[in-house]
Amino acid sequence: MDKKKCDLGMIGLGVMGRNLLLNMADHGYAVIGYNKDRNKVAALLTESGGRSLLGATSLSEFIPALRHPRAVMMLVPAGAPVDAVISDLLPYLESGDILIDGGNSFFRDTERRMKALEEKGIHFLGMGVSGGEWGARHGPSMMPGGPAEAYARVRPIFESIAAKVKDEPCIAYLGSSSAGHYVKMVHNGIEYGLMQLIAETYDLLRGGINATNDELADIFGQWNEGELRSYLIEITARIFRQKDDKTDRRLVDMIADSAGQKGTGSWMSEEAMALQIPIPTIDVAVAIRNLSAFKKERELVAQLLGGSASPYQGSRETLVAQLRGALYAAMILTYGQGMALLSRASQVYNYNLKLEDVARIWRGGCIIRAELLEKIRAAYQRESGSSNLLTSPELGSEVKQRIGDLRAVVSIASQIGVPAPALMVSLAYLDAYRSRRLPTNLIQAQRDYFGSHTYERVDQEGSFHTLWNQS
Ligand code: 6PG
Repeated sequence: MDKKKCDLGMIGLGVMGRNLLLNMADHGYAVIGYNKDRNKVAALLTESGGRSLLGATSLSEFIPALRHPRAVMMLVPAGAPVDAVISDLLPYLESGDILIDGGNSFFRDTERRMKALEEKGIHFLGMGVSGGEWGARHGPSMMPGGPAEAYARVRPIFESIAAKVKDEPCIAYLGSSSAGHYVKMVHNGIEYGLMQLIAETYDLLRGGINATNDELADIFGQWNEGELRSYLIEITARIFRQKDDKTDRRLVDMIADSAGQKGTGSWMSEEAMALQIPIPTIDVAVAIRNLSAFKKERELVAQLLGGSASPYQGSRETLVAQLRGALYAAMILTYGQGMALLSRASQVYNYNLKLEDVARIWRGGCIIRAELLEKIRAAYQRESGSSNLLTSPELGSEVKQRIGDLRAVVSIASQIGVPAPALMVSLAYLDAYRSRRLPTNLIQAQRDYFGSHTYERVDQEGSFHTLWNQS
């Protein structure tokens, strides 16, 4: 091995690529960044500060700088740009080289690319990277999947740059094929669900009891000291204090209420439907982002049907306490829905996922990091085969203690007219899960009535059909 050459090369020097590369250089690795855009390469090099960091604007400069077998990572937008980079790179790569896609790629694309590259002897790893700009620079959570031997070769680099929780790196080899990108998709779906739940809680505090931004910052700040402690709650508290630099208002009040999305949330919803795993909190989070885009129609409907919430007349303190309990219960249910999908996907796609590892690497560095993940990890440590978190004695009992809060909040939201669909559907999911008898017997009867689809009985094995009295 040529010691003077680079340990890893990064293609794409956007915020994530640049910061990951600087993070690697901080940890003593010799690295090189490639971008066609000279300014991006120049910006990287101004930050090199005596570290082993090179830049290249052409592949003919970039590739020879890498040690054999080469390790190349891409951080480019998901979709066509990933295929374009692969096709540009292919003539330069050799059998045994490793190519890592660190973007939010769709898992089916990862499978296709992995297969095509493996035929040429090139090892392809699909690795979800979470933590945004700050995480990439100071310690992200990473979710790699693909050929195990290839991961073993790059593992020291990634373990060194990963976030650490209690000295454990927030990275683990998750499984073959597209396991890494699948887990990242689920991470993002959970992110959608948690963000929607937090937004509804904010709306209830704002619309129900007229909480000011300072009060909101205090409430979320206090919540972040307890069982709700998490990155998303922490940044929410900070957001409420941010002043707008263009007006004398708070920035949050000046931001338009139509949320964008890049697609990972809806991929998860579609995938969950295909694998028949209910994830209603996440589905509704995607739906509300979609609904938020219909701003003009919303204005019109508000004008026609009346659009403002009526204030809540009950005790402020009680509502704040109930919201805290409701939010925590719904957060557990959201992680639980994600884990249930992972459990099914692991069987269907033979990923052989260890859910304990997934919970462990999400405890730090990523957007959904939360104190709660410690308990989720412990639950899977005790019962690795469990697919539903509600059956875990500790988490089940945490939810049980807060069912009253969730129910109260849902009922208040519906009375005062504040939309709280994720909280509502979380409660409905929970109520359905804990129902010994759902009304699905009637659905079975209807199916048999109109389409002779047959039904099963509660007292006998087999399938039955009735000549219903259709007169
Ligand atoms: C992360 C995030 C990140 C994602 C953004 C935006 O883990 O760091 O999940 O990967 O791109 O959160 O996602 P949307 O545009 O879909 O909201």
